[in-house]
Amino acid sequence: MSESVLLLAIESSCDETSASVLCNDQVLSNIIATQKVHEKYGGVVPELASRAHQQHIVPVVQQALSEAGIESGQLNAIAYTQGPGLMGALLVGSSFAKSMALALNVPLIPVHHMRAHIMAHFIRSDSNQTLPEFPFMCLTVSGGHTQLVLVKSPLDMQVVGETIDDAAGEALDKAAKVMGLPYPGGPHVDRLAKDGDPLKYSFTTPNIPGFNYSFSGLKTNLLYFLRDRQAVDAGFIEREMNHICASYQHVVTEYLLAKLEASAMHYNVRQIALAGGVSANSSLRSKLTRLCEQRGWQAFIPPMGYCTDNAAMIGISGYYQLLEGHVGSWSDVPRASWPLDGSLR
Ligand code: KG4
Ligand code: ZN
Repeated sequence: MSESVLLLAIESSCDETSASVLCNDQVLSNIIATQKVHEKYGGVVPELASRAHQQHIVPVVQQALSEAGIESGQLNAIAYTQGPGLMGALLVGSSFAKSMALALNVPLIPVHHMRAHIMAHFIRSDSNQTLPEFPFMCLTVSGGHTQLVLVKSPLDMQVVGETIDDAAGEALDKAAKVMGLPYPGGPHVDRLAKDGDPLKYSFTTPNIPGFNYSFSGLKTNLLYFLRDRQAVDAGFIEREMNHICASYQHVVTEYLLAKLEASAMHYNVRQIALAGGVSANSSLRSKLTRLCEQRGWQAFIPPMGYCTDNAAMIGISGYYQLLEGHVGSWSDVPRASWPLDGSLR
């Protein structure tokens, strides 16, 4: 392998078509086309996502190459999201990556989307940057996953706890939906909560043993609360929106962090990371910083641009996989469901 690796990465697991070029662990470009077509349905429509990926993938890849200032012929490897995600969406990215790698005769690297969210911490943006040391504990929170992951090395990760029903992002998105906010609702809840009192309303913290989570009861709790209040006061949601968002977000974030803290103590790790779309949440970020200051732990919070889905995180995972010689084969197929600590083959 040459000293410098120029790698193209492609992400297409859900509703973002993204391409990124990396030189080793540095990002030269990271283009993200967010699909707006789903907004009016209040959630991602898989069939529409696949079609939008088809429309976006060529221009997005072209833009990523041109922003990086390179020609496709200079690429040394191509990484792509093999799963988990929507099958039709994954097929677009994987077929594109496979064709391009075949044409260029370079290795094809299949990447696990949730592992990639964690590996985003290893993207080097300046030479003084501190990278997490192994092992560290990572709370990965997205629209589809909520997991506590003990990260032992770039390729060795163990799920020590996870949601038994809804994901944290889903709990925020569904709450936003019942309050009439646009999809995805997480960022709206975050924004509105800034002007609300987090202690004005109380919602029941779910009670699940160990390091697992559950969010479906909390969601139902909010649903019944809003239904009862609206029945006697038609303007309740509109008037109290900020306080409802702040109070609901308060319970979600406190709950996420309580288990993260307990798991870090149990596994005796002092380096704590956040990953996934919900790690963009301002309350979660500041609470984790405070917790780590109090405990003398080191917090790793991803830059905003690497929280939600992007191809740069696929690229950094691909780079570390390539270093370990973990490349794919031409017969690989997308994996719609794929446990984070399942087999890499
Ligand atoms: O990782 P991601 O982009 O896609 C998945 O792999 O699911 O995560 C998307 C999730 C959505 O549920 C979205 O509402 C949530 O991340 N999210 C946020 C914020 N930004 C995105 N949730 C709370 N606060 C935010 N600022
Ligand atoms: Zn994601």
